[in-house]
Amino acid sequence: MAPSTVLRGGEVIDELGTRRAELRLADGHIVEVANSIDPGPDADVIDALGCVIVPGLVDLQTHLREPGDGHVDTIESGTAAAAQGGFTAVVSMPNTTPCIDHPDLVRMVNDLARAAAHCDVMSSAAMSVGRAGDRPTDIAALYDAGARLFTDDGTAVMDSAVVRSVMERVATLPGAYVGQHAEDEALIAGGHINEGVVSAELGIRGRPVAAEAIVVDRDLRLAELTGARYHVLHASCAQTLDLVRAARRRGVDVSVEVTPQHLALTEEMLRGGDALYKMNPPLRTTADQAALRQALADGQIDAIATDHAPHPDERKSLPLHEAAPGMTGLETSLAAALTELVEPGIAALETVIAALSWKPARIAALNEWGHGGPLVAGAPANLAVIDPHERWTVDTAELSSRSSNNPFRGRVLNGRVRHTFLRGSSTWSVDRVPSAAG
Ligand code: DOR
Repeated sequence: MAPSTVLRGGEVIDELGTRRAELRLADGHIVEVANSIDPGPDADVIDALGCVIVPGLVDLQTHLREPGDGHVDTIESGTAAAAQGGFTAVVSMPNTTPCIDHPDLVRMVNDLARAAAHCDVMSSAAMSVGRAGDRPTDIAALYDAGARLFTDDGTAVMDSAVVRSVMERVATLPGAYVGQHAEDEALIAGGHINEGVVSAELGIRGRPVAAEAIVVDRDLRLAELTGARYHVLHASCAQTLDLVRAARRRGVDVSVEVTPQHLALTEEMLRGGDALYKMNPPLRTTADQAALRQALADGQIDAIATDHAPHPDERKSLPLHEAAPGMTGLETSLAAALTELVEPGIAALETVIAALSWKPARIAALNEWGHGGPLVAGAPANLAVIDPHERWTVDTAELSSRSSNNPFRGRVLNGRVRHTFLRGSSTWSVDRVPSAAG
C-alpha cells in the first residue's frame, strides 16, 4: 500500500456538517473516510482526539512583502506563517515594491510561492498602474497571468471613472472580482486612528467612518452599473454593513470580509498610544465592533480575512503619527476568532470555520484549486487539524513571520492549529514550533 497518513479520533467540520470521522490521506488526496480506520503497519498516525478537522483555511488578504521588503517578510516566511495558521491558500496583496501591476509580477509571485510549497498563493493585481489611481491596469492580461482579485489595497482608487472602467472589464471575466481598500483619501489625510473620542483625547487626527462608507457606497453603485462582482476588504464599521445589506437587496453581487482584529479589538486599545494597534482602516468603536460581531454570527459577513501586514520593529515602535499601519495575523487569526467569538458564545464554531474556509475559497475562486471543499473520499487533502480548546501563549519567536508586530503577542489564546496538510503533505505541525532559541 502507498504510504499514507491516518487522522484518528477527530470530528470533521465542513460544508456538509459536523460529524465524527477518521480520514486516510494518500497520493495527495483523501482516500478513505470512515467511522474507524485501521491504519495498518505503514501509515503515519495522527492523534486527532479532541480536535476538529476542517478544509484548509483560505485567506483573502495576505501581504507577502515580496518583491521589495524581504527583511520584513518573504514569500517563503509569509506562506510558512500561513501554514502555521492552518491556511492552505491565500490571496496576496499587490502593494509591494514594485507593486503587482504587470502580468510578469503576478507570475513571479505565484512561481515563488509554488517553489516554497507551504500554501497555494493567488496573487491579486493592482487595478491602477503603479497604484497611482489614474490609469487602469491591463485587466485581461493580469487575469490571463492568474489574478482574479483586482485592488489597489493599501489605498482606495478615488477616480470613479477608473473604477468603472476596471469593473466593466472585470464583469466580462469569469471568477474575477474587484476589492477596494475603502477609505476616502481626502477625508483620511493626516489621520492615524479612528476619528472619535480617543483621537480627540490623544489630540491626534482621526480617520472618520464616513471615509469608508463613502467609498463603499460609490463602489456598490458602480458594481450595480457595471454588473461586476465587488468585495469589501476589511470592513470596519456598522455603516458599511448597512450599505452592503441595502446593495444585496438591489441585487448587487457583493461580498464582505472582516478581520479578526476588528472583531476582537476597538479604538480603546489605542488610549495608551501603542502603535501595535494602529492599522488601516482603524479599530473603531465598541458599537461598530458589536455590529461586525452580530453580522458575522448571522452569516451576513462572508469571510474573516487576516490582513497579515508585517512591519519591522523600527516602523512600529514609534509614536502613533509616525508608525506604520498594520499587524501580522496569519498565525493567530483562527485563535483570535475562537477566543473572542466562539468561546464567549458570540458565534458558532461552524460559522467561524465557514468564514475562514469554504466561503472565502469561493469568493477568490480558490475552490477551483481544490480548497474549502467537503472532506470526502477523492477530494484533495487540503486540510487543518485544530484543537479548539488548547490554550497557548503567543510568542512571536515561535511564529513563522519575520516580523513581530502582533498585538496578541504575550496573550493566551484559545484554539491551536496542530497540523496543516497541502495536497496530503504536512506543511505545518505543532511539533515543529520554531524554538525561541532557533
Ligand atoms: O493597516 C494596513 N496595513 N492596512 C492596509 O490596508 C495595508 C497594510 C499594509 O500593507 O501594511
